[in-house]
Amino acid sequence: MDQTEEQKALIQWWQVSSRDLPWRRTRNPWFVMVSELMLQQTQVSRVIPKYERFIEKYPTPKKCSDAPASSIIAEWEGLGYNRRAINLHRASQMIVETHSGKVPNTLSALLELPGIGPYTARAILCFAFEEDIGVVDVNINRVISRITGKVMRPQEMQKKADSLVPTGDGWIWNQALMDLGSEVCGSRSTDCDRCPLLTYCLWKGKGPDPAKRNSPSSNLIQNFEGSDRQGRGKLVNALRKRRVALSDLEDVMGWDGDPKRCRRVAEGLIKDGLVEYDRKTGYRLPS
Ligand code: ADE
Repeated sequence: MDQTEEQKALIQWWQVSSRDLPWRRTRNPWFVMVSELMLQQTQVSRVIPKYERFIEKYPTPKKCSDAPASSIIAEWEGLGYNRRAINLHRASQMIVETHSGKVPNTLSALLELPGIGPYTARAILCFAFEEDIGVVDVNINRVISRITGKVMRPQEMQKKADSLVPTGDGWIWNQALMDLGSEVCGSRSTDCDRCPLLTYCLWKGKGPDPAKRNSPSSNLIQNFEGSDRQGRGKLVNALRKRRVALSDLEDVMGWDGDPKRCRRVAEGLIKDGLVEYDRKTGYRLPS
């Protein structure tokens, strides 16, 4: 297909600079879905071994849906945000029940699956089904803000991202934009001298950074130490090995003297379907 000079420049750069990542060697929609869920909020290097193990153990949605939720939570160890594991397990059940075991290939059906938002749905459509659509993650959002010099609302950003995609090459284009964002056009460090899009960039690394004002992460950075999330993680980690009695909750969660908080946070885990409670035996992972 005919490409603009800008599109050619990025694709040529990527052909020599691309990272070889396991989920880029496949178009299997289930594998792509697993990788995208793991990559939400977890860095690439941590995801690679977990991803490889997961798809070997659960090569189809059916295999995943047949396993107990606790096995899927166990596979999530080290990735954090365990709610994603429960979402993936529930999504696999929905895929088996309503889509004959096949990951759906439409935006509306994907968005109905638990844990799949606008970003992940589009990533699956592009990276598994090779649809020519814009995929806007934090990296791509930053690159496009800088190139256009514009602060955009999500809808306008999505439209802009869609309009940039070269026909027939959406897969490569979005992978390349992601790598550009992580390797060259970083949130804190930029390497404009190495950027294949420098001549097309309005910002060029000079003056106020257009990506700063609409950076979704800038006001979301939360302190993990002492947070509810830390206590959640501690309880789930302990439950990976054994049951936890109510009387041990404060000790396990690291909040001695604050039983109310422990109960509240544990209740949240139960509500999310990550943990079960039995009066006699205490807390455990769902079976
Ligand atoms: N993060 C989310 N999707 C990714 C991909 N396909 N490659 C690298 N990082 C990613």
